[in-house]
Amino acid sequence: MCGIIGYSGHRPAVPVCMEGLRRLEYRGYDSAGVAFPNRGGLTVIKEPGKLGMLEQALEKAGNVLGATSALAHTRWATHGVPNQVNAHPHTDASGKLAMVHNGIIENFAELKQELAHKGVTFQTETDTEVLVKLVGEYRKECATMREALSRALTRAEGAYAVVLVSADHPGRLWAARKQSPLVLGVGVGENFLASDVPAFLPYTREVVFIDDGEMVIIDADRWQILDVATLAPKEKEVKTITWDVQSAQKGGYKHFMLKEIFEQPKVIRDCLAGRIGQRTQSVKLPELEGLPLPGRLVIVACGTSYYAGLWGKYVIEKLARVPVDVAIASEFRYADPILSEGEQVLVVSQSGETADTLAGLRLAKEQGIPVIGLCNVVGSSVARESDHVLYTQAGPEISVASTKAMCSQMVMLLLLALSYAARKGVLDEEESGALVRGLQEMPGLLEESLPAMRESAKALARMYAEADSFLYLGRGACYPLALEGALKLKEISYIHAEGYAAGEMKHGPIALIDPRFPTFAIALADDLFGKVRSNLIEVKARGGKIIALTNPGVELEIDHPWFLPKVAGPLGAFTVLPAVQLFAYEIADYLGKDVDQPRNLAKSVTVE
Ligand code: G6P
Repeated sequence: MCGIIGYSGHRPAVPVCMEGLRRLEYRGYDSAGVAFPNRGGLTVIKEPGKLGMLEQALEKAGNVLGATSALAHTRWATHGVPNQVNAHPHTDASGKLAMVHNGIIENFAELKQELAHKGVTFQTETDTEVLVKLVGEYRKECATMREALSRALTRAEGAYAVVLVSADHPGRLWAARKQSPLVLGVGVGENFLASDVPAFLPYTREVVFIDDGEMVIIDADRWQILDVATLAPKEKEVKTITWDVQSAQKGGYKHFMLKEIFEQPKVIRDCLAGRIGQRTQSVKLPELEGLPLPGRLVIVACGTSYYAGLWGKYVIEKLARVPVDVAIASEFRYADPILSEGEQVLVVSQSGETADTLAGLRLAKEQGIPVIGLCNVVGSSVARESDHVLYTQAGPEISVASTKAMCSQMVMLLLLALSYAARKGVLDEEESGALVRGLQEMPGLLEESLPAMRESAKALARMYAEADSFLYLGRGACYPLALEGALKLKEISYIHAEGYAAGEMKHGPIALIDPRFPTFAIALADDLFGKVRSNLIEVKARGGKIIALTNPGVELEIDHPWFLPKVAGPLGAFTVLPAVQLFAYEIADYLGKDVDQPRNLAKSVTVE
């Protein structure tokens, strides 16, 4: 969703902000803009479309290198169509204050009406313009900007991360956060504000994660954090980011998505590091110390993380016999869910900032239910608000379509299943040891198989790129992977795809099958193979074309068997996942789609 960057320091601020926006592009956007103090006034330049448009406008404007403070924004439209007028930054009535905003001000209509009565006029359809104009009005009555901002924000309902610049105070930026991400980057003679760390990572690794209800004021050589409501100063810890700039760059791959698919062997290694006892091969999850086994585990997540959760249900129930329910966060939060003592909630989120997932987390906490956060981004809201945090160690994931994050979530869910199973004593040591060894061997196996998998994906993509629709089928633990395969395909290639439990297919989708409606099946040589094969025979009998991920040695008469290495039980998922990702990737690339930034999608969905 919207990306924010603000800078104050010794470098030309506009190029620093533009570079920051480039690194936030992955969040998804449809327009962009920048504002900076300029000779007693403010220059605001904004354009619909991609950053190239804004760069051209800046070139045309010329004279942008003098500013030493600036703020910039990529907008993912919520209120108002994505055009130049609605793009951020927005200004107050005096034109001396400019604001960028990520989030939604829910009571903007009331506030707008109130301001209109006072004679304030509006040029845009956005909630942000209302907020900055409210600050502008309060500025007339308050001695300081911080007071004006505090008063305006106290009246704003909804979610926001905002950054503000004033023509009257070049070199200073004000920012605040409520339910939308905001990070302060602390440099030497320069400071940064951003929605996410990669925006300023080439300049500093020292960060302060801003919490809800906090205001930050930065100048080139100082920063301070205040309580938004009381303006009382707050002490905050500066943390050091351990991952480097390279991990947020393409590293020779054509797209981030491809790079991230190929990083999965490393991700599995990193997730396992320090978690397996050398001698006993027992699983170590010290983060969960003191937490009893749950009577029931409720997994709450969105998108790909939700599918990882569905897969987690299969493995946790099968291996550990702990009951698991999985809920889509946006449903869970309004379903008045029944949570009882002894149960636990596990929220799964790559970004740790997904608004609905966070709402689910908060709802569980309000009911006194212990919450475990399974997330990737260190210091994210999920990480900070959960009672226990399991980090997935996937490194920054830049492509909007999630790939390696799901792999890391699955590793952690399998480890959780194994640790529950050991605590309950329901899995014999041999089986558990075999799974741990299989996981440890998985990175090597994938490193060997990924190049050939890509070639198969490429060849099939060329054959099937013209299809309008795809049916993805799987059973058991492979059903969530069918759902994920379909999601990947539609996200990045815009080909309609539906994931279905193979056995359920005859209750509806079978009516669609004809030679132009292909099926992508997951038919591994496991306990359910015979059942899936029968389902595929039904498809074939109706003239449907079939691609199936399977293992060597099985008998399966279909158009395109795609052989994956055979591994034990639930580990097959780690071979299926990159295959469905690569198939979607190769089709989207073949069709010339914007793989890393698919239309209308956002990496981190910080509004509900
Ligand atoms: C968006 C992203 C998906 C992601 C989902 C959940 O829709 O485009 O890739 O799976 O949000 O995000 P989270 O950060 O909570 O895992």
